[in-house]
Amino acid sequence: MEITQESLLEALKTVRLPAQKQSVVESGLISRLEIQEKSVFVEYRLAERNSMFEKSLSFQSNKALKALDSSLEIVVDFVESAGDSSAESAKKPPRPAIGSIIAVGSGKGGVGKSSVTVNLAMALKKLKYSVGILDCDLYGPSIPTMLGVEGKKPMMLNRKIQPIEAHGIKLMSAGFFVEEDQGLIWRGPMIHKLIQQFYVDVDWEGTDVLLVDLPPGTGDAPLSLSQTMPLTGSVLVTLPQKISLIDVKRAYAMFRQVNVPILGLIENMSEFVCPECGTHSEIFSRGGSTNFCKETGVPFLGEIPIDPQLREACDRGLPYLINHEGTAVAEAFMRVADSLRSVIRTADELEEAVQIVL
Ligand SMILES: Nc1ncnc2c1ncn2[C@@H]1O[C@H](COP(=O)(O)OP(=O)(O)OP(=O)(O)O)[C@@H](O)[C@H]1O
Ligand SMILES: [Mg+2]
Repeated sequence: MEITQESLLEALKTVRLPAQKQSVVESGLISRLEIQEKSVFVEYRLAERNSMFEKSLSFQSNKALKALDSSLEIVVDFVESAGDSSAESAKKPPRPAIGSIIAVGSGKGGVGKSSVTVNLAMALKKLKYSVGILDCDLYGPSIPTMLGVEGKKPMMLNRKIQPIEAHGIKLMSAGFFVEEDQGLIWRGPMIHKLIQQFYVDVDWEGTDVLLVDLPPGTGDAPLSLSQTMPLTGSVLVTLPQKISLIDVKRAYAMFRQVNVPILGLIENMSEFVCPECGTHSEIFSRGGSTNFCKETGVPFLGEIPIDPQLREACDRGLPYLINHEGTAVAEAFMRVADSLRSVIRTADELEEAVQIVL
């Protein structure tokens, strides 16, 4: 039997809040219902959070939906309507006070997104911003390793998940919740839910810039991200060669499709300067990125040379920028950070803007 929204709703008509006559369908408690392959995501909007009600609704929903197909994977979630009668605003989770959110993406894997994220974060910190990193690479979260905090477990405080602090950067990553050798299959609704939690349930208070490291490709994560967070924009990372540029064009098209401004392009591993003889080698060719920027109007933010010490620093968990001030790579990151200043709004500025609106 094909599972459709209708069949799901039909099944959920057996679910009701304790001591209530109407089902969750009739009483309009369902704020989202999505199906993707074998995963079902149900979100209930309650007047106020109540663990007994939530347990009961989770249990009943699982039972009712599994009766349709026992192989379904079911995610049940709850949001509070916070006394707001407008359905639209009740659906929206409260906004944490983050000044600016910038996604770092590329169409292709292994081009250095995570290394760029970590070092750009350090460069922004040097410019006196309070910086956070959200590692949304659910399949291969590498930022905890690059910041030397793998294996740490975040704690809860005041009902908020506390980011792990590393080298003055706040970090949240799926890597803190998944064992390294645990192969997990993330389906669309689960990715959406996790990203939403990473935004709403994590204590990002006072963060000026949150950099979001994306997994390679144009899959569910960037889409969920653009639906969940008020992104300031995205930064694309590419290698200079043609193959990588073809993929970055895909990422460019995807961000445009979901209305996320593209703040600029960073060309990584643009050349290798031999430490022995000083010869410049363009290992991955040259020129493609500037052509791409000319064609699309995307600002060119800069090029990061290949430096084996950057790779070493990533592996050691000590960001390159900490011990390599003034090198070509460090200067390149500082220039990129500097050129983003014009779009960055700090947490204080955000608060002022909210007060003015109120
Ligand atoms: N400019 C550079 N010089 C030397 N090594 C680099 C440079 N940039 C990245 N690397 C190295 O290249 C490898 C891939 O980088 P990284 O993990 O940051 O890429 P990614 O795009 O995040 O990959 P994935 O798509 O798998 O998430 C790492 O070993 C990293 O240390
Ligand atoms: Mg990565």
